[in-house]
Amino acid sequence: MIPQSFIEELKMNCDIESVVSSYVQLRKRGRISTGLCPFHSEKTGSFTVYPESQSFYCFGCGAGGDVIGFIRRIENLEYVEAIKFLAQRAGMNVPEDAAEDKTALLKTKILEMNREAARFYFSELMAPNGKNALDYLLGRGLEPKTIKHFGLGYAPNDWTRLTDLLASKGYRYEDMEAAQLSRKSNKSGRYYDIFRDRVMFPIIDLRGNVIGFGGRKMSGDGPKYYNSPDTPVFKKTKNLFALNFAKKQKLERLILCEGYMDVIAMHQAGFTEAVASLGTSLTSDQCRLASSYVEEAVLAYDSDEAGQKATKRAIGLLDEVGIRAKVLSIPDAKDPDEYIKKFGGARFKKLIEQSAGSVEYELSKIGAKYDTETPEGKISALKDAVGLLADMKNPLEREVWAAKLARDYGTTKEGILTQVQTKIKRRARAEGNRAVLGQSAQASTFGGAVPEKLRNPASASAEERLLGSLMRNPEALSTVSTIVSPKDFVCELYGLFYEKLLSTLSTGFEVSLTLFGGDFTLEQQGIIAKLANLAREHRYSAEDAAESAKTIIRFKEKKSDKEIGELSGAELAAYIEKMRKAKK
Ligand code: CTP
Ligand code: MN
Repeated sequence: MIPQSFIEELKMNCDIESVVSSYVQLRKRGRISTGLCPFHSEKTGSFTVYPESQSFYCFGCGAGGDVIGFIRRIENLEYVEAIKFLAQRAGMNVPEDAAEDKTALLKTKILEMNREAARFYFSELMAPNGKNALDYLLGRGLEPKTIKHFGLGYAPNDWTRLTDLLASKGYRYEDMEAAQLSRKSNKSGRYYDIFRDRVMFPIIDLRGNVIGFGGRKMSGDGPKYYNSPDTPVFKKTKNLFALNFAKKQKLERLILCEGYMDVIAMHQAGFTEAVASLGTSLTSDQCRLASSYVEEAVLAYDSDEAGQKATKRAIGLLDEVGIRAKVLSIPDAKDPDEYIKKFGGARFKKLIEQSAGSVEYELSKIGAKYDTETPEGKISALKDAVGLLADMKNPLEREVWAAKLARDYGTTKEGILTQVQTKIKRRARAEGNRAVLGQSAQASTFGGAVPEKLRNPASASAEERLLGSLMRNPEALSTVSTIVSPKDFVCELYGLFYEKLLSTLSTGFEVSLTLFGGDFTLEQQGIIAKLANLAREHRYSAEDAAESAKTIIRFKEKKSDKEIGELSGAELAAYIEKMRKAKK
């Protein structure tokens, strides 16, 4: 068996758009790309590639899946062959029958140790020994409940406290080292704590696992922050600090900032949509992650030159995944943390509301792309600019920018606005078509693979909603698993999907489309891709997952109404208990 971790890595290296482009001529349409479906014959482009979820779906024939599924279909390969094919393309070596169990076990161990460590650091912060650290955090304006909420802690100024504690709980030194919590001394050969005399910031993933730490020095020289290096459970470049908290709400936008303290100060002031990249500059993986949740981000980077440079870079990266960027400028303070401390949350809110759109920036980019001294260059630039304006929802905003463009390019505002209207209409028509096509495709493909759907459309759609929202919110799995079991599903295939998702609870693997690669047919993978995309469109949250789980149970109960007379006393009690849980 090929380890799941390798498959994840392979997928990171095989961008679906570029793989598909070798077979299909793709046209960019905003955040997606479309083209003529290679799997059925058609004249309109129903074949859609979603770069954000790294998946494809054809609204005409229902083919869909991830990059591996695409290669399987188009090259007519078995699952493992398709992986080898892609690995060769990416210049990667497929590991021979590696011990997947071993990796999974180690991952579990590391997560356990991290949790122990976080508990230890927190209790140290609250102990007399941690008084300095606690005073430091309170002195920076954090309230005790904020400290608790983020699980902040203190790594004592000692060499082996954590290492000893973990050893006393039966953990092996090599595993502590793999977790990047302990290190082996070259001299003595003994293991010692990596984090010492630092204020600790646990990094928590979307499922609530502690995957790493940031530690801040309170005084002395040496680097101010030290972050856990990558481990089998932690990839700095793929996580965003505090996204686990931010996504507890229906998100309209994210606020992206540089530092742990910025995020925490913002959350305390009520801006719970703030997240940060982890001691690295923003990566495209982080942008892709963000794009599953929002279409807009406010960049709240430091006001110094480095921060401004980082802002420019971030706008470009966000643009690539279809996130609109707004830029916050922070006057009279070096970062959001300092601003909030100086001027308060209310003033900060005003700043956020005033944050400038990136239109200006986008237009300058378009201007630079063409030689606007020549008529041809001017026309090309205007065409791109019209596309940009057509994206704007507010007509007033379009008007303002059209006026500016007219001035810059020596043309008329009316002319530009007419073009924009045409573009908007054309787009609406295209989208309308897609929606219609989508429905019929759904009926036909789903009809075959999910025959139960015809007779139980309502419960089937609750099951679809549950699966979709779980793919987006894997942290809801453990709660949902106590409400509904695969046996409760009306649609057998959906029950199998659900079972597969549940299996990630024990193995610790990420929930993504790759999960469905090995055990499911291409048609079934298409359905999963479709469900994942629907969930993203509707922005299903963890609450949606819990809601639909309860709906599923309610449907199940209804059926049992008829049979209720035949239930034994114990069965009846169990049903009532389940019912109560479902209504909660
Ligand atoms: N950082 C890091 N290593 C460093 C310095 C910074 O990993 N040696 C990361 C940390 O994630 C930090 C972020 O970059 O939160 C921003 O750094 P900086 O602006 O220097 O610090 P502040 O966030 O202002 O930190 P503080 O307010 O605690 O001084
Ligand atoms: Mn700061």
